[in-house]
Amino acid sequence: MDIKKILVINGPNINMLGLREPEIYGSKTYGDLLKFIDAAAADMGLEAHCFQSNSEGAIVDEIQRAHGIYDGIIINPAAYTHTSVAIPDALKAVGILAVEVHLSDISKREPYRRISYTSEACLKTIAGLGFEGYHEAIRFLKNLNKSA
Ligand code: DQA
Repeated sequence: MDIKKILVINGPNINMLGLREPEIYGSKTYGDLLKFIDAAAADMGLEAHCFQSNSEGAIVDEIQRAHGIYDGIIINPAAYTHTSVAIPDALKAVGILAVEVHLSDISKREPYRRISYTSEACLKTIAGLGFEGYHEAIRFLKNLNKSA
């Protein structure tokens, strides 16, 4: 296993961090998250590229484009987690190792957030750690280099 380049995908409304329900998602902005991910990737010696979209089709397009370019995907599909079949289908189609991240603990919120269609296309789901969840996901992908 040689994971060097990772794609970090954030779904709808993640660009509204800071403004959006700060009691759930905190007061830091999407710009802060981008800086956090850059630093976390540098810390792990990986190259990370971030992508955000509010549109399901654009996320599917980005996953398809990742084929042959990225060795790992970290994805917070946001609300599409609970509704999209196309996103896990795309992850399975490209076969890139993927980790699902959620800022909040989706298992302790509304019942409809407990279902994740994305998780069956991911090696692991990390939820409820805020920004740190992305660091954890990067670390998990990096550690795959040792285990294979
Ligand atoms: C989220 C959880 C989802 O249920 C929600 O729709 C989001 C963000 C999270 O990061 O905690 O938009 O994925």
